[in-house]
Amino acid sequence: MKNPFKYGSRVSGGAFFDREKIMRDMMGVLDGGNNVVLYGPRRYGKSSLVGEVMSRLRARGWVCAELNMMDVVSLEDFVTQYARVLYREAAPVVGALRHIAGLFRRVSPKIGIDDEGKPELKFEISSRKAGVAALRDVLELPVKICPAGRTLVVLDEFQEVESLGLGAQFERTMRSVIQNHEDISYVFLGSKTHMLERMFASPSRPFYNSAQKFVLSRPPEDESRRFVIERFRSVGIKMPEELAARVVSLAGNVPYYVQAVSSWAYNSVVGGRARTIRAADVEEAFLSLYATETILMESVFASRPESQRLLMRALAREPTARFDEEYRDRHSLPSTSTVNTALRRLVKESIVELRDGAYALSDPLLAYHLSSRG
Ligand SMILES: Nc1ncnc2c1ncn2[C@@H]1O[C@H](COP(=O)(O)OP(=O)(O)OP(=O)(O)O)[C@@H](O)[C@H]1O
Ligand SMILES: [Mg+2]
Repeated sequence: MKNPFKYGSRVSGGAFFDREKIMRDMMGVLDGGNNVVLYGPRRYGKSSLVGEVMSRLRARGWVCAELNMMDVVSLEDFVTQYARVLYREAAPVVGALRHIAGLFRRVSPKIGIDDEGKPELKFEISSRKAGVAALRDVLELPVKICPAGRTLVVLDEFQEVESLGLGAQFERTMRSVIQNHEDISYVFLGSKTHMLERMFASPSRPFYNSAQKFVLSRPPEDESRRFVIERFRSVGIKMPEELAARVVSLAGNVPYYVQAVSSWAYNSVVGGRARTIRAADVEEAFLSLYATETILMESVFASRPESQRLLMRALAREPTARFDEEYRDRHSLPSTSTVNTALRRLVKESIVELRDGAYALSDPLLAYHLSSRG
């Protein structure tokens, strides 16, 4: 029997639930030839959602290529990796290497050997000074190598372009090239909401108004509960309704944590003969998960300035809509203006969010970490 819960990497198929409406809306926008920017807090399922959209579009004959900007360390690296993923996706459709050889002035394909000793196509930039010119070349590549029909290019953690060292030039160049790409749609996504928002919503930035915005929120709670129950059922384990609700609540209904708590609960019964999850299994599962994340939570907390730390601790213990004097006294918070500044910062960085009308920590484990200690 295999653990039916998966967390950490992208999920698809049976491990993926809900998100139908946002996927339909997003595909409608892409179908219309427009671009999408998707943001949402960490671990809500952005990459999985876009992965699912790509597989649906591939089934309709689209070429879909994807690059995670977290894996890109420099402009040269972007140019070669971008060429590689596009080629990999388009090659089976367009045929052979000769279709792209010679298309470049500055980036040339070379046959190399991969880690397993198999031939692999690599790309090299012919001139070290190629810079923005090579960037332009490679950004035009989808038009040149992708067949007639539709193409989707996905750039995950897109805000990381800011660290490539080109400043606004990357954004300017990319915008000016891709705005002429009629048959190619782009999805930009990432978890650093404030950075993406600045890029796509400030009139002074090149990407201003260039993509339809989508924000990923938590799934409906009943969908999460149903998912937990069904996945346990698929391996012959009974998960009582009220305990599924407890899992979802402990997990703050964040998809990653829903799967992680469930996975630990599965581990606790799988060795024995019991075929029904008990309340104690769920509580233990949460604590086991918490134990693996404590150091991370502490480092998130410790990295913030004092006023933010005080506010985080207060919100972990008591989410609130208003920071009146009583609340500030109760939690030993500083003046209103200091609290407001700290709040703005924490909201911008998705550490705090407005949920059901009250400010609360976005991460349920961080909330537990800060409320459970003295
Ligand atoms: N639709 C879904 N159905 C079930 N589980 C999901 C879904 N979306 C996400 N998850 C769970 O959350 C985990 C993280 O998903 P994913 O990597 O897609 O999130 P993300 O928002 O891109 O995260 P990050 O901000 O870390 O990049 C998955 O491994 C899975 O356990
Ligand atoms: Mg992701």
